[in-house]
Amino acid sequence: MKLTLRIWRQHGPRDRGGLVDYRVEISPDASFLEMLDVLNEELVRTGAEPIAFDHDCREGICGMCSLVIDGTPHGPERATTTCQLHMRTFADGDTITVEPWRAKAFPVVKDLVVDRSAFDRIIQSGGYITAPTGTAPEAHAIPVPKPDADSAFQAAECIGCGACVAACPNGSAMLFTAAKVTHLGLLPQGQPERYSRVAAMVETHDEEGFGGCTNTGECTLACPKEIPQDVIGRLNRDLLRSVRQR
Ligand code: SF4
Ligand code: FES
Repeated sequence: MKLTLRIWRQHGPRDRGGLVDYRVEISPDASFLEMLDVLNEELVRTGAEPIAFDHDCREGICGMCSLVIDGTPHGPERATTTCQLHMRTFADGDTITVEPWRAKAFPVVKDLVVDRSAFDRIIQSGGYITAPTGTAPEAHAIPVPKPDADSAFQAAECIGCGACVAACPNGSAMLFTAAKVTHLGLLPQGQPERYSRVAAMVETHDEEGFGGCTNTGECTLACPKEIPQDVIGRLNRDLLRSVRQR
């Protein structure tokens, strides 16, 4: 496949940045990140600066890969991370635009890399339990109703990639925050801090510059793990209870 790539290049946080065109020839079986590797090898070979982009596991687990491809976070395929997107999704001769996550709370570090440490600070403010749990308990020592276990497991699938923020017209991280709140709030171990947790995490969310949720639903559509929007409803109910408890 012969492709034209329009890639966002930005030397640093203060640089204005802009789109630069590159040509690349690649097998349809290559992944999107392998295609960028091939392009970077060519740039290095010719003495040009390679394109900075985030990645780690390349298995859809770590949440590091983060590219807006043709206007969509993680590209045109539903429920897929950028690392699991393959070039056969595109057609020979296509022009593909590649940009970093766009959100006030995710400032660009360089080229396609953004600073997502705001997510870490949301987790630090409440995304944990303090109950001493000791070693792993026997599986049935604390009974958890099956629907709760299933919903908690689904919420725990959030990999913290930030696609929900990049897709949201408000730059809101409510799907991410609600996934973490739901994961812990449905399990017995998460009950002692259930309401103080949600209040602290939403407060940090707002302090970090993420926007408010207006239920547009773009977040769930962009989420590679298909975290459902009802986690946000659950967060809102818990937040209301936390206000009443004050
Ligand atoms: S909710 Fe989905 S899109 Fe948002 S950070 Fe988690 S996995 Fe990524
Ligand atoms: S590189 Fe880990 S999820 Fe894509």
